[in-house]
Amino acid sequence: MKLAGKRIIITGASSGIGRAAAILLAREGAKLVIGARRETALTALADEIEATGGKAHVCAGDVTSPDYAEELVACAESRLGGLDGAFNNAGTVGEFTAFHDMSDANWDHVLATNLSSAFYAARAQIPHLLKAGGGSLVFTSSFVGHTIGLAGMGAYAAAKAGLNGLTQVLAAEYGAQGLRVNALLPGGTLTEMAGDDAGYHEYVRSIHALKRMAQPEEIARAALFLLSDDASFVTGTAMLADGGNSIFKP
Ligand SMILES: NC(=O)c1ccc[n+]([C@@H]2O[C@H](COP(=O)([O-])OP(=O)(O)OC[C@H]3O[C@@H](n4cnc5c(N)ncnc54)[C@H](OP(=O)(O)O)[C@@H]3O)[C@@H](O)[C@H]2O)c1
Repeated sequence: MKLAGKRIIITGASSGIGRAAAILLAREGAKLVIGARRETALTALADEIEATGGKAHVCAGDVTSPDYAEELVACAESRLGGLDGAFNNAGTVGEFTAFHDMSDANWDHVLATNLSSAFYAARAQIPHLLKAGGGSLVFTSSFVGHTIGLAGMGAYAAAKAGLNGLTQVLAAEYGAQGLRVNALLPGGTLTEMAGDDAGYHEYVRSIHALKRMAQPEEIARAALFLLSDDASFVTGTAMLADGGNSIFKP
């Protein structure tokens, strides 16, 4: 088991990558606090994990709230006895729109969900991680805004690029205290976020060297790597798990 006894917060656990990560991390021995807004989905996931001998406590809420970041940490302290890692994974792509037509509301919502959430999460989590001797922080970023610009995704790209910058600074600021901080950059992944439009999926597949989209479990395995001691000398990275879309020209 790669995470035996590790106490870990996962956000965005109600679906997709976060859900797959919760199942995998629990199987690898982690004790979890799982978060997202959809409490029913989280409860079903916790039941599934507990049925196979794992541990998962539900703490539902909205990652755009600084109070929710504090609640997640308080839950880790009270239910798990501390915090060794976090997979800050919740995100939204927002509306696809020409940049000159983008509403203030979309910009604010996408930045709040993908980037301000990371600020609130890390600010709340870091003192507890340091108290436990360091640990591992992982943010789910994206290839969009790092290796590829996709039309219509200006707010999302800005937010995810911001996450990559934040990752570098946190890694530099807290490395001496044993805290590793990394961004995980998935390629196109078959989750709710990717929708079910066959034409869009075909386009996304076409921009990857592997000519397919990822299953959420494949991205979860990359998160497991970054959260585990297998990545003991890995910090400050924007780690691609992108099916080769960064090196492929259709
Ligand atoms: N799918 C892709 O192709 C792809 C590619 C690169 C990066 N990513 C990134 O991967 C991460 C996970 O996305 P996914 O692909 O697994 O999509 P997903 O299935 O739509 O999952 C998104 C998760 O984020 C949660 N979430 C969204 N807004 C939230 C909020 N305000 N407060 C709390 N939780 C919130 C959702 O839960 P609730 O709705 O229950 O709140 C859900 O659990 C995201 O950061 C995304 O940007 C995805």
